[in-house]
Amino acid sequence: MRHLLDTKDLSREEAIRILDIAESMTDSTGKEIKKFPTLRGLTVANLFFEDSTRTRISFEAAAKRLSADVITFSAKGSSVSKGESLKDTAQTLEAIGADAIVIRHSSSGAAYRLAETDWIDAAIVNAGDGTHAHPTQALLDAFTLRRERAALKGEPSLGQGLDGARVVIVGDILHSRVARSNVWLLNTLGAEVTLVAPPTLMPHSVGDWPVRVTHDFDEALASEPDAVMMLRVQAERMHGAFFPSASEYSRRWGLTPARHASMKQGAIVMHPGPMNRGLEISSTAADAPNSRVLNQVSAGVAVRMAVLYLVLAGDSTDTQKA
Ligand code: CP
Repeated sequence: MRHLLDTKDLSREEAIRILDIAESMTDSTGKEIKKFPTLRGLTVANLFFEDSTRTRISFEAAAKRLSADVITFSAKGSSVSKGESLKDTAQTLEAIGADAIVIRHSSSGAAYRLAETDWIDAAIVNAGDGTHAHPTQALLDAFTLRRERAALKGEPSLGQGLDGARVVIVGDILHSRVARSNVWLLNTLGAEVTLVAPPTLMPHSVGDWPVRVTHDFDEALASEPDAVMMLRVQAERMHGAFFPSASEYSRRWGLTPARHASMKQGAIVMHPGPMNRGLEISSTAADAPNSRVLNQVSAGVAVRMAVLYLVLAGDSTDTQKA
């Protein structure tokens, strides 16, 4: 695999391979992440033009677990404030020794721009670009779902997709790169996806996506999904035009204690983080025994190890873009 830019580019076999490699990065308890010498002598640069807690730190942890050196760049406090371009910034990181660049940027398409120009030779991993894609988040979500299903069935997860799983994704779909990457990956892996959002936060393009769409959260919950994935309301992308109001949003599209109580036995709560507690998700749901929010964070390290391994040390059959 040369780069990882979006889950839309992944075949089912490629996606399962990433998930299987991520499984092999954990020990037999499935929790502890092993340490490998695989990427010794290589350098991973985290190039973050937008804020991040989980993605940046877990990429850093993943690179270190593979024995790579890590350079972390944050646009805040850098020469970006003096007008330095994306091209010059990326070339500077490569000149310092970056073999892979993990990029988060507010512009949709920034990761593709780095991968498709001849500015640099480094492998590119998209850590979130605008409202477009967040492939490693979707992969860690699939990893979490796959583990859950395997545990319920008492079967190993290796080699498995998510055939027949029913996932409801709720919230600010309009601004969500997490939703977009999940829609493509979950579909590729055989899951059925329902999107729920206020009409103002559902993108017009949703008619072209392989999903069922509703504005009624209670109707979606009545279909007894295996997982309810809540999305963050991205107020920072709404430029002060938050609509509906927070109280209406919470009442109609929030995972309230009552809606949480109505979930079927064995169904799980997911959220990519950071959470707006009391808005899209109640603390009752976020902290419940069936919440997998922190499992998702843990899965992020193993999945990002698998991705860094594939783009920096994958075998010669991994020639495709992603
Ligand atoms: N889920 C996610 O991308 O979180 P961060 O913004 O903290 O990286």
